Parts: sequence; structure tokens; C-alpha cells
Amino acid sequence: MKSSASTVVEMPRHVGLIMDGNRRWARAAGLARVSEGHRAGADHLEDVLGWLTERGIQHVSVYVLSADNIRKRDADEVAYLFRLIESVVPVQARQWSDWQLHIAGDLALLPESCATALRDAVEVTRNRRSHLTLAIGYDPKEAVRDAVRGLLAEGVDVEDDALVAAISDRLPGGPIKDIDLVVRTSGEHRISGFFPWQSQHAEIVFSDKMWPSFAEKDLDAALAEYTRRRRAAAS
Ligand code: IPE
Ligand code: IPE
Ligand code: MG
Repeated sequence: MKSSASTVVEMPRHVGLIMDGNRRWARAAGLARVSEGHRAGADHLEDVLGWLTERGIQHVSVYVLSADNIRKRDADEVAYLFRLIESVVPVQARQWSDWQLHIAGDLALLPESCATALRDAVEVTRNRRSHLTLAIGYDPKEAVRDAVRGLLAEGVDVEDDALVAAISDRLPGGPIKDIDLVVRTSGEHRISGFFPWQSQHAEIVFSDKMWPSFAEKDLDAALAEYTRRRRAAAS
């Protein structure tokens, strides 16, 4: 039994967002093209980041595009998504005052202009106080493989816990790797490869809302659910 002092539950330190449902949102809204759902989804991320900032959350990881999405989706849709990322992320990165950008994913899967725009955006946000990781061209097993490959290449010889910590340190993303709360929208109850290493102890909350209509009150409901579950686990 833990003392009551230890049952005080904070907000999640690091929030993960699987933003899903853009195409269904566009279809339900009667829009002519699913790309309009992706555009709305990109705009909506700005709103959600603002709400998270207002709630004091300084570590956020977002699933933007998986390596599987790039490999398996229609070429026109993928080309649109690359153009959207290339046009939106660098502009937003320059407008934020607090978010330091990190990219998790294989930039070699992206057109060179898009990869360069993302590298530049990462550069201009250096040394900011909050950390936003965008998963783009991301595959979790490849990320772990690359981390291990880096250690092997350096001839690092560590064992057990130190090796686990060394792999964690080498994973892409901000300084706090562990994710406390994962929110997936659109009613799908899957993880789809969203940072499984980092989400080992995460609470997962599923929302039926499509990403572009995920509202501030839905975020608050997810945060309240996190607090409720952590309190139950601590009592
Ligand atoms: C999420 O929305 C965005 C990406 C995966 C790029 P979807 O495009 O998966 O939209 P739905 O889930 O098909 O509605
Ligand atoms: C997974 O979305 C990745 C993102 C939300 C960016 P999908 O909508 O492609 O997921 P699956 O493939 O249906 O699991
Ligand atoms: Mg989807």
C-alpha cells in the first residue's frame, strides 16, 4: 500500500498522438477529395499543440506518416502528403516559440526537397524548451535496428540495463523517450507501430472522433481518463 502522498497523480509528461481519420472525416463532410481531410488534419495539429501547451505539456510525439503508409498508399495521395508536409512543417516550425522539432523516421523515403525542408526546420528550432517529435516515414523496428547498428558501429560494449538505456538514448525524438499517454482518434483500436519501445508503460486512450474534429473537450477527457487510471493503479 502506498502512502497518500505518492498517489498524487500528475498530468502525463509526454503525450503521444496517433492522428487518424482524416479521410473518413473528409468523406463524411462531403468534400470532393480526401486530401482536404489531410489539410484539415495538419491545421488541426496546430490547435491541439496549443491546447497541450496551455496545459503545461512540454513533450509531444505525433504519428504523421508511417513507412507503411508511404509504401502502401496510392502514389498520388502519398505525393500530396509529402507536399503538405514540406509546405506546412517548416512554416509552423518558424512560427512556434517553444517547440523544438525532432523527426523520427527514414527521410530517405521522402523526396529530397521534403527531407531537406524537414532537416532545416529541425535546425531552426534548436534549443527550444518543449519537444515535439513528428513520426514521418517511421517504422519502429527499423528505428531500433538503426539504434543498435549505431552502437555496433561504435564498438560500444555495454551490457544489460546499460545496453537498454544506450538503445533508448539513440532512438530518434526528444530527450524524454518514455510516453505516458497515447491518444488514438477515429475509433480504431490499434497502435499501428506507434513508438512501441517508448510506450511500454503508456496508458492508451481511444477516441471515436476523427482527427480533424478531435476537440479541446476530447483532449481534456483523455487527460482526465489518464489521471483516473493512474490514480486507480496507485491506490
Ligand atoms: C490519418 O488519416 C493520416 C495518415 C495516416 C496519413 P487517414 O488517412 O488514415 O484517414 P482514415 O483513417 O483513412 O480516415
Ligand atoms: C497509421 O495510420 C499511421 C498514422 C495514423 C499516421 P493508418 O490509418 O494507416 O493505420 P492502419 O494502417 O490502418 O493501422
Ligand atoms: Mg487511418
